Amino acid sequence: MSATTSTPSGDKTSKKAKKGAVADRRLPRPPRVPGGLPVLGHALDMRRSPVELFQRGRDLFGDVFSIGLPGTTGVMMSGPKAQQKFFRMKDTDVDLRETYKLMTPIFGKGIAYDAEPEVMKEQLAFFHDALREHRLKTYAQGFVEEAEQFFGTWGDEGEVDLYEMGNQLTIYTSSRSLLGPKFREQLSDEFAKLYYEMEGGLNLLAFFAPNMPMVPAFKKRDRARKRLGELIAEIVRERRAKNDNSSEDFLQTLMDATYKDGRKLTEDEMTGLLLAIMFAGHHTSGVTVAWTGILLNQNPEWIGKLRAEQERVLGGRTDLTLEDLKSMTLLEWSIKETLRMYPPIIVMMRRVLKAFDYAGYHIEEGSMIMTSPAMAHRIPEVFPNPGKFDPERWSPERDADKKNPMSWIAFGGGRHRCLGIVFAQLQLRAVWSHLLRHFDFELVEPRYEPDYSRLLVGPRLPCRVRYKRRK
Ligand code: HEM
Repeated sequence: MSATTSTPSGDKTSKKAKKGAVADRRLPRPPRVPGGLPVLGHALDMRRSPVELFQRGRDLFGDVFSIGLPGTTGVMMSGPKAQQKFFRMKDTDVDLRETYKLMTPIFGKGIAYDAEPEVMKEQLAFFHDALREHRLKTYAQGFVEEAEQFFGTWGDEGEVDLYEMGNQLTIYTSSRSLLGPKFREQLSDEFAKLYYEMEGGLNLLAFFAPNMPMVPAFKKRDRARKRLGELIAEIVRERRAKNDNSSEDFLQTLMDATYKDGRKLTEDEMTGLLLAIMFAGHHTSGVTVAWTGILLNQNPEWIGKLRAEQERVLGGRTDLTLEDLKSMTLLEWSIKETLRMYPPIIVMMRRVLKAFDYAGYHIEEGSMIMTSPAMAHRIPEVFPNPGKFDPERWSPERDADKKNPMSWIAFGGGRHRCLGIVFAQLQLRAVWSHLLRHFDFELVEPRYEPDYSRLLVGPRLPCRVRYKRRK
């Protein structure tokens, strides 16, 4: 079925709706994917095999269809036009905060998605400040040094789990860049353990009932949050006591930041925001490190091309700079292609605050609109031969994204597009630049598949590879 054929009036929004007139209740509702259960709707399918469910809907109905969710209806919008509509909707018309309420027990009350819209906007602006171009040089330096240190401890040969390796390494790179080398040094095994315990509380149940009592994963999450808050607050206080404002990191940005009304951030707000940025950037980057390794080794001709590029950019140099990372074009395409095939965020959602009409359908207030990078990135009309790892599809001559804006949505789109996009890309390039130059890998698992039981989707465990240090 084509990407745009199956709605009552194609992908044209009615003139009335375009002008912002009242939505037309007489229009049909988006067709519903068959199956599902009373009350739970398609929640179990969402948990077991979400992309299969979405694809089933798209195969049956095209760009717009609905699924049942507990207590509401999910309206999937896929295909470039529908995705543009999704990402261009205003915060006054759709609310993304509610869909992130599972994060509130981790970030804290009044932080990020739990804050009032105006406050959240200001907090996002703090993130923006911390991720500015002039800071990238320091961050890039940190990525390179962390990679050298991390892989320096590996032997001449051995076996590692790529998933675990990616997550371990990026917890160091992110925390160092965002919170400073001092924080990084103090990262104990305890810190990593607590972090993963909080992450264990991010499951589908947390979407609908983040504070359901007696759920072991939630109890662990809350204990870990409390302890981690103490660890971070200690470092904040230490800096304040020393009156030290010389650091070039996210923590310093928060310590210097002021809300528009002149108020400084409280310690708890800082802790919450530090956790928010850690969560946004850590696991997403970690699983992408792993998938990049898997895809490159499944397509070894690309390892050759990327090594030639390393040679071209660096010659024999080992003192990598921000400029070097920016010049690694083939590596950039390879990572973009990895994120096309295996985006860590497989679905984004917003609660509809104001009913609207789209593609001949009436989308009701209270429903959840959704879009899915994992499905969108495999639409053959947009990405020919979608199952093929083909980094050259990102070359300027072929760039699929330019032909169809918002078709590649691994980092989202529009006003809430990922703020860490450049940061993440540089980090991933620094890690793979190091690995390509220093190690050969061999895949050992019979299959490497996405594990949909986690909200941030990475390869299923075990995800081992054999490595050998290059001479
Ligand atoms: C491969 C790595 C990453 C991926 C795939 C990714 C993906 C995304 C996506 C899809 C969104 C939009 C969510 C939505 O619209 O509902 C988003 C938002 C965001 N990301 Fe990332 N991200 C990555 C790394 C990072 C890093 C490293 C940081 C910070 C250092 C970061 C900070 C943020 C922030 C602050 C937002 C919220 C933006 C807003 O709501 O306006 N991300 N990310």
